[in-house]
Amino acid sequence: MVNNKKVLITGGAGFIGSHIAEYFAANRYKVIVVDNLSSVNSQKFNNNLNIIFYKRDITNDSLDDIFENEKPDIIIHLAAQVSVTKSTKEPIFDAMQNIIGTLKILKYCRKYGVKKIVAASTAAVYGDIKPPVSEDSAPKPLSHYGLSKLTMEEYVKLSGVNYIIIRFSNVYGSRQNVYSEAGVITLFKNAMLKNQEITIFGDGEQVRDFIYVKDIAKIVFELCETDVVNEIVNISTGQGISINNLFKLMAKKYNYSLEPKYKPKRENDIVVSILSNDKLLKILPCHFVDVLKNKEVLHLDDI
Ligand SMILES: NC(=O)c1ccc[n+]([C@@H]2O[C@H](COP(=O)([O-])OP(=O)(O)OC[C@H]3O[C@@H](n4cnc5c(N)ncnc54)[C@H](O)[C@@H]3O)[C@@H](O)[C@H]2O)c1
Repeated sequence: MVNNKKVLITGGAGFIGSHIAEYFAANRYKVIVVDNLSSVNSQKFNNNLNIIFYKRDITNDSLDDIFENEKPDIIIHLAAQVSVTKSTKEPIFDAMQNIIGTLKILKYCRKYGVKKIVAASTAAVYGDIKPPVSEDSAPKPLSHYGLSKLTMEEYVKLSGVNYIIIRFSNVYGSRQNVYSEAGVITLFKNAMLKNQEITIFGDGEQVRDFIYVKDIAKIVFELCETDVVNEIVNISTGQGISINNLFKLMAKKYNYSLEPKYKPKRENDIVVSILSNDKLLKILPCHFVDVLKNKEVLHLDDI
């Protein structure tokens, strides 16, 4: 049975969006997904009666009919150009998707009286800041992607729509595109199972804060259930692991004996990215905080 609440998820057929869509649908929301299916591994939700899917492009297509008919209470805005490398090669495309795309969604939010927008941002807005990186740290993006996401945030803040801006650290889990830059865990696992050679860019000492996609879905749900608005919140584990240590840990689990091949560092790659989750832990209900504890464990079986 659905409750009366409706959530519209842009980019809801993608890696993170599909997990969020399914979690909300399983928790009695009516879910409306808007996605242009430009991602390689888009989900179709054929068997989920609580999810309605619209194939639309947020930058080019009108969404008036969807907002008019569905009247969503909450928007979770995930549709974006997500590649750091592509953002450098095609900054105009990146800005069209991440800035203009968001402005269009904000226009619909105002026109149709949406109660709250949850907009996905990223650790890339901070650049290379020494941890712990809190929401108050001054952002200094190193890439066009980080810059377009930071600019998007500023438009959201000025929009007059109630918002939560969520800055994800590195997300991993099932359905992640193996070709995406953030998909290192999926990439390592696939290569290790096939005993293929693995390339590490740079010296492998770059550190990342990996958070499990199903935890993200629960956290975004819990945030939507609170009255919190007009805040920026990091969503992260607050703990880091170097790519070399990740490699060693996974090699042991999968009995992989090849040595990695090292290639030059990728342009605009951040060295250490660990986000503080202190603010998130203060906002979330007490019973829920345990989800973020014991993050030493990686969910490698759900990839
Ligand atoms: N994966 C991560 O580690 C990570 C980290 C930080 C932030 N984020 C942010 O989270 C969000 C989701 O990322 P993801 O990893 O699930 O990526 P993804 O590529 O799997 O999902 C993005 C979805 O948006 C859709 N989309 C793209 N442009 C669109 C458009 N113009 N109109 C309609 N749909 C469009 C794609 O088809 C895709 O389904 C993005 O905003 C990304 O910037 C992701």
